[in-house]
Amino acid sequence: MILVTGATGNVGGALVARLSSAGAPVRALVRSRERGDDLRGFDVDLAIGTYDDAASLRAAVEGVDRVFLLSPGSPAMAEQELAVVAAVQERAPQAHVVKLAAAGVDAPGETSVRFLQQHRRVVQGLSDSGLATTVLAPGSFMQNLLGQAGSVQEQGVLRAAVGDGAVSHVDVRDVAAVAAHVLTSEGHEGATYTITGPEALTYAQVAETLSRVLDREVRFEDVEPGQYRTGLVQAGVPEWTADALLELGEVYRSGGAARVTDEVQKATGSPARTLEQFLTEHRQVFA
Ligand SMILES: NC(=O)c1ccc[n+]([C@@H]2O[C@H](COP(=O)([O-])OP(=O)(O)OC[C@H]3O[C@@H](n4cnc5c(N)ncnc54)[C@H](OP(=O)(O)O)[C@@H]3O)[C@@H](O)[C@H]2O)c1
Repeated sequence: MILVTGATGNVGGALVARLSSAGAPVRALVRSRERGDDLRGFDVDLAIGTYDDAASLRAAVEGVDRVFLLSPGSPAMAEQELAVVAAVQERAPQAHVVKLAAAGVDAPGETSVRFLQQHRRVVQGLSDSGLATTVLAPGSFMQNLLGQAGSVQEQGVLRAAVGDGAVSHVDVRDVAAVAAHVLTSEGHEGATYTITGPEALTYAQVAETLSRVLDREVRFEDVEPGQYRTGLVQAGVPEWTADALLELGEVYRSGGAARVTDEVQKATGSPARTLEQFLTEHRQVFA
C-alpha cells in the first residue's frame, strides 16, 4: 500500500492518477471527505487527516509500505512533514519514504532560499530517523506559468524577477511519473533524483515560445525585485512566501536553475515534456 500525502495538489493529484491507472494500491491523505471528492474516479482509499493531527497521521500510515511525502511551501513545512515521519517511525518503520523536495536541496554549502532550508530540515530528519528514503528534487514547475495567464491574455506580458537566468521548467506530470516509478520499483534507497524538463530557457525565450504558440506577441518584463514583492503581497501572497519567491528568483538570475537532467527519460523511457508541448496543450488558458 502506498500512502500519498498532498494528494489533492499539483504533484500528488498527478501521482494518484498515475498510480491508480497502473493498478497500484493507493491510500490518499485528504483533509476532509469533501476534499476527497477531487479524487473520485480513481481507485484509492481515503485517509482523512492533516499534518497537524498526529493521531490521524498514525492511522493513515498503518500498514503502508511506501509513503510519498509532500507539503506546501510554508514556514510550517518541516514541522508538518516531520510529523508524518514520526508517525511512519512509530507505526510503519519498514516503510520507504519518498520525499518531494526541490532542485538544489543537495547542493553543497548553506542556502539562502527558505524553501530549501525547510526541505533540508526534513531530509536531515529522515536521515536521523533511519527510515529507507529517496529524495526527489524537481526544478520549477511549468504549471506555475498558468498563474500568469491573466497578464498574458490582457497585456501580452510575462513578468518575473529573474533577469536572463535560464530555468529548466518541468511538468508536474513528469515529476509524478518519476515518483510513481520510484514508489513501485526497487533500488532507489538513499538516492536523490534531480528532475527537470529537457531544456533550460530564459524567461525571454519562454515569452518567445508563448508568442509562437499563441500566434501573437508576448514580451518578457524583468521586474525589479522590490516591485515584484510588492505586487505579490498586494495580490494576497503571504510575506514569507513572497520573500521565498524573491530568493528563488535570485537563484534563477544567477543561472542556478539551468541544470538539465534525464531522470524522466530514465524512469519512464520517454523524454520529459517540452515547454512548447505544455504551452500548446494549455493554449486556451493563455489565449
Ligand atoms: N512550484 C514549484 O515550482 C516547485 C518546484 C519544486 C518543488 N516544489 C515543491 O513542491 C511542493 C508543493 O507541491 P504541489 O505544488 O503539488 O502542492 P500544492 O498543489 O500546493 O498541494 C498541497 C497539498 O497539500 C495538502 N495540504 C495542505 N496543508 C495540509 C495539511 N495541513 N494537512 C494535510 N494536507 C495538507 C493540500 O490539501 P488541500 O487540497 O486540502 O489544500 C494539497 O493536497 C512544495 O514542497 C514545494 O517546495 C515546488
